[in-house]
Amino acid sequence: MRDPFNREIRSLGISITPHCNLKCFYCHREGHNCNSNSLMTPEEIGKIVKSTLKFGVKKIKISGGEPLLRPDLVDIIENISDIRIKDISLTTNGILLENYAEKLKNAGLNRVNVSMDTIDPVKYKNITYCGDIKIVKAGIERALDVGLTPLKINYLAMKNTIEDLDPLMDYCRDIDAILQIIEFIPLNENLKKYYVDITTIENEIAKKSDKVITRKLMQNRKKYYVDGLEVEFVRPMDNTEFCNNCTRIRLTYDGFLKPCLLREDNLIDVISPLRDGKNIDDLIYKAILNREPYFKGK
Ligand code: 5AD
Repeated sequence: MRDPFNREIRSLGISITPHCNLKCFYCHREGHNCNSNSLMTPEEIGKIVKSTLKFGVKKIKISGGEPLLRPDLVDIIENISDIRIKDISLTTNGILLENYAEKLKNAGLNRVNVSMDTIDPVKYKNITYCGDIKIVKAGIERALDVGLTPLKINYLAMKNTIEDLDPLMDYCRDIDAILQIIEFIPLNENLKKYYVDITTIENEIAKKSDKVITRKLMQNRKKYYVDGLEVEFVRPMDNTEFCNNCTRIRLTYDGFLKPCLLREDNLIDVISPLRDGKNIDDLIYKAILNREPYFKGK
């Protein structure tokens, strides 16, 4: 199905918990505040996912909070798995990945994105408040071993992490991970001082790269190859192209469909009707019709 702006729906992002075991100073918590009631059960998540497939969803991205904090994650993935889904991925901070990786792979997870803004242990601890980079690296190695690939490292470009980019590129090249350079979204006035426009970084990488690919199905994002390392850029800020090519709807951990990451005012409750035994197809339809690009241009 296409929304009123002719954007096809291909992907569903599911936040499965608001909780996190790190406290990154910048976090947008997937755009949803932690003020709500009960979490969706694995069965409920499975049912909602199956309903979205009729509207064209082919890809699932699981996130949080920190999704590995849910002890029933294997059950969740098993409930999501469906022959019609081409890709199930999960965004994690990697802290609990080492022990979980194999179970997740066996349950049907295809790949993971691991958030890592620096490989410097001291800085990592500062940014995350309490994280240990050694544990994250062990988790990444395990994920690569069990085939949760292609594995992506999410790096948030900020004033205080710019100097960490080069070492992170070397690390990703070594372990054969893809590096995603993400533009920082300053969520409040205090955070504005960390913002950097990643155009400069992109231009430099473009100069060094041997090959460039435009990912038509992914917001026209460009993918660069630099000495065997794949680098992608994610730039949501004021980016009309990003919004014009957005194909994702979201589901919050407490069972609301969320047509846009950056909006809180057009959520649709699907969990209550589901719990009342009702069909939710018309609500998914309504959520898709509610979609509109956040950054519309002039
Ligand atoms: N701006 C951009 N990206 C963010 N993330 C978290 N907070 C922000 C923000 N303010 C991204 C991180 C992490 C993913 C889960 O969300 O890069 O990898």
